[in-house]
Amino acid sequence: MDRRSFLKTSAKGLAGLAITSCGSGGGGSGMGSSANVSLNTGVFTRQFFTPPEAGFSVVAGRKVFNLTMQRGTQQFTGQGVTQTMGINGNFLAPTLRMSQNDLVDLNVTNQLGQETTLHWHGMRVPSLMDGGPHQKILHNATWNAAYAVVQRASTNWYHPHAHGSTAPQVYAGLAGMLIVDDAETLALDLPKTYGADDFPVIVQDRDMAADGTFAYSVSQMDKIQGKKGNTILVNGVLDASLDVQAKEVRFRLLNGSNARVYNFAFSGGLMFKQIATEQGLLASPISLSNITMSPGERAEIVVDFSAIAVGQSVRFQDLNTGIALFQTKVVARTLAITTTPTVLSTTLVPLTRGQASRTRAFVLSMNRGNVYINNKQFDMNRLDEAMVLNQVEILDIQNASNMDHNFHIHGAHFQLLSRNGVAPLAHEAGLKDTVYLPANARVEAIIQFTQYTASTTAPYMYHCHILEHEDAGMMGQFTVA
Ligand code: C2O
Ligand code: CU
Ligand code: CU
Repeated sequence: MDRRSFLKTSAKGLAGLAITSCGSGGGGSGMGSSANVSLNTGVFTRQFFTPPEAGFSVVAGRKVFNLTMQRGTQQFTGQGVTQTMGINGNFLAPTLRMSQNDLVDLNVTNQLGQETTLHWHGMRVPSLMDGGPHQKILHNATWNAAYAVVQRASTNWYHPHAHGSTAPQVYAGLAGMLIVDDAETLALDLPKTYGADDFPVIVQDRDMAADGTFAYSVSQMDKIQGKKGNTILVNGVLDASLDVQAKEVRFRLLNGSNARVYNFAFSGGLMFKQIATEQGLLASPISLSNITMSPGERAEIVVDFSAIAVGQSVRFQDLNTGIALFQTKVVARTLAITTTPTVLSTTLVPLTRGQASRTRAFVLSMNRGNVYINNKQFDMNRLDEAMVLNQVEILDIQNASNMDHNFHIHGAHFQLLSRNGVAPLAHEAGLKDTVYLPANARVEAIIQFTQYTASTTAPYMYHCHILEHEDAGMMGQFTVA
């Protein structure tokens, strides 16, 4: 029986797709254990959910957002009830939208019953406003983050960052998208109507029980490999169907998973264009059939559905697991067409090797299940690096283990100079803040910290964005002066 007819005849419509996440096959972990059976069915019965844009008020020329981190419940399959966390809601968070040169005030109230922080991943902000482990928000307290939006248009995200509890809090649902707009990007003939031809795609896996519930628990294997789930959600929804018009559509992809690396592609080999990396427009679009993304990475892509017949659908899938994440069903066009330009940005001036004054080494390693950067585990009271304001440096980042890691740094963006000794892939040549390091990979990234210093009491972080590794200490901190 092929997969399609199996799905049709399966009593509950649940396909027993196995995801192999553990070599030893011992992935189960007590209550809520799922025997690695995915609840993704390949039949798209739920409606795609576009997180609403966060409301704000304007006070004395500043955009003021009020965010409450709270507990809630959610039914992911219409059966069991999962205890969740969300921001201004039960699960996930509204999309924050800001423009370059905005002054923003974010009032963050913690109603979780436990300590947290809220970090603006990808935003270049003063370290005191960064929401890293040092900017703790106690239960019932409100933290105010006030900053100017100094960067170009880009797709960023926000999530907790309290040391030791980032993984469970993100897993419970605390994550949202943060989109920055600027004049250069808005002037281009790109899809830009949020929720109509411009969609966030937050991809997260969860280890679901048969009734669609999940609870964070980590086995010894999860601690080593990071927590991977059997079931993949998009914007918090399982098996969603999205009506798209027969025209270009933009997707803002975010791997918001704790640990899983995806290789995204459309069914039928439908090609797409990557237009932006984590920190905004590429110089020109890059034509791709698939894109690999590690946790924390973002990419903006444009897919042209105009050649797909109305009524037909295309699946967005992960080639690594073989799971179809959602389908796009093509409907007649009512919005104007766009034609993605062949030149996107002329303002991206790359840093060059010759400008660098030094190379700084970061070695990611594992030993007996422990994780290290430069042979150290994170210590809130130890400063690991001292960056020099305005100095151009090369970061030589090496994965000295046989397992996946990645590397994210706060406070500045970087560009890749090399990957494994050769030129990076075209789509990695844009501005980034997170880079994938598969087993034994090595990259050189060029970086410059400008504008903001970071003091000894409010350092910036660098870390592996596999959240179980981060929580276990695969993180360091640095000043900028
Ligand atoms: Cu997305 Cu330091 O984190
Ligand atoms: Cu970050
Ligand atoms: Cu790691």
